[in-house]
Amino acid sequence: MMNADTVNARERIPDSCCFVIFGVTGDLAHRLVIPALYNLEESGLLPEKFCIVGVTRTETQSKTLKADLMKGLEKHATRPVKQEIADKLFGCLTSIHADPGDPKSVEGLKVQLEKARKDKGITNHLFYLAVPPGAFKPISEMLGAAGLLKEKDDAWRRLVIEKPFGTDLQSAKQLNADLLKLADEHQLYRIDHYLGKETVQNILVLRFANGMFEPIWNRNHIDHVQITVSETIDVGTRGSFYEQTGALRDMVPNHLFQLMALVAMEPPSRFDAHSVRSEKGEALAAIQTQTEAEALKNSVRGQYLAGRIGDRQVGYYRQTKDVSPDSVVETYAALKLTIDNWRWAGVPFYLRTGKALAAKRTEVAIRFKQAPFSMFRTTEVERLSQNYLVIGIEPTEGIMLQFNTKVPGPQVTIDGVEMKFKYKDYFKASPNTGYETLIYDCMIGDNILFQRADGVEAGWAAVQPFLNAWKKAGGKGLAMYQAGTDGPEEAHELLERDGRRWRAIDGE
Ligand code: BG6
Repeated sequence: MMNADTVNARERIPDSCCFVIFGVTGDLAHRLVIPALYNLEESGLLPEKFCIVGVTRTETQSKTLKADLMKGLEKHATRPVKQEIADKLFGCLTSIHADPGDPKSVEGLKVQLEKARKDKGITNHLFYLAVPPGAFKPISEMLGAAGLLKEKDDAWRRLVIEKPFGTDLQSAKQLNADLLKLADEHQLYRIDHYLGKETVQNILVLRFANGMFEPIWNRNHIDHVQITVSETIDVGTRGSFYEQTGALRDMVPNHLFQLMALVAMEPPSRFDAHSVRSEKGEALAAIQTQTEAEALKNSVRGQYLAGRIGDRQVGYYRQTKDVSPDSVVETYAALKLTIDNWRWAGVPFYLRTGKALAAKRTEVAIRFKQAPFSMFRTTEVERLSQNYLVIGIEPTEGIMLQFNTKVPGPQVTIDGVEMKFKYKDYFKASPNTGYETLIYDCMIGDNILFQRADGVEAGWAAVQPFLNAWKKAGGKGLAMYQAGTDGPEEAHELLERDGRRWRAIDGE
């Protein structure tokens, strides 16, 4: 992991490499990959010998591709674009036409990579698949068949795969099996952009670099955990994608489970990819498998109706372009899960995510058990609130601890107060895309922030009963909510049944 602002002694410059982008003309490359590479270049974290090879499906001149990427960079850069940095980044950019539908077309790519070896001595290749999921397998097969995934003579080959990784347990297993026939696990970098977020990475540091949290981080002291990813954006132009996906597939087995795994995992013995990913995988594999009946009882799925979010009017999900008028796809999902191990048995993890909600909020809230009340029985105090530790990821990056304190005055009265740490008050960081660390780690060969096959499959295995149960239930049980609210009423009932309450999504 790195700090993209300064090159310090611990940060090493990656080996020379050709950075081959499939889908270079697409949205992801323009919005995130290229601006992140620009930021790395500006921070001095790209190797001296570095070439971008953009793979296009139609013949495109390198000059045209460069102009197109430059335009995209100007639009999406997170920092003011300096011409000399952009020139250095695009210095040896080449556009290559290759299409898995025409396997012979890969020859041009081979020739280009060979040219980089001869002219510049670059022998390492990173293949970034910024393409729709249906293209992961054909492109990897095309590379494999051409011998481009074979590592030899210290030259590495790495394959970066974006989400979604499969659409259910079976397809994820199949994709893993297909890729592992072509490359070794250490060559695969399955991206989950949540792991590029500083505050997400900080969960590990908060837990394992402080002596005070770990002793109470278990079922003896923790009452429950809430993980929230609420979004104000609606489905917008992504109707056809969303109709195939829904909120559960889109967010839970990947982003929300990454947060859950970091909160729930056992301390790894070393800070390396093998140890960290093994412990995360174990935590996900310990999520108790629910029967379909239990899954129905322990979940809520909702779909938004028209409503107002701030000064924006949002239409019905069912009236979105490319969405069926009688769609039963969920735009909101809430689940109650339990982790069946010694640390967590009996501690519910409540997860929720949804689109077109009142506020954008990503957080993990740990609620501690209530202190014994007996000492206050003879006082005016009616109740003690339970302590909260909240890890804020959006909109505020930081940590908040809520605890009880005496209200000044002659009588003993108690109120809950908040102690807040905000990242921006302590650290100055240049604005990043969130992809810098991930791309840098790919280049230095550190896959600690990437998903391993077992973790991906454990995630899908945990959500599969919900997918099955919801599919069978069809429209029955789909709870409607108005856009601009905090989701369906049924989601509140899910916690109220257990005598608990969600934190507000639109609080400070
Ligand atoms: C993506 C989902 O993976 O994550 C989107 O496909 C979602 O639907 C996005 O909006 C949320 O990411 P973030 O970083 O804005 O929380």
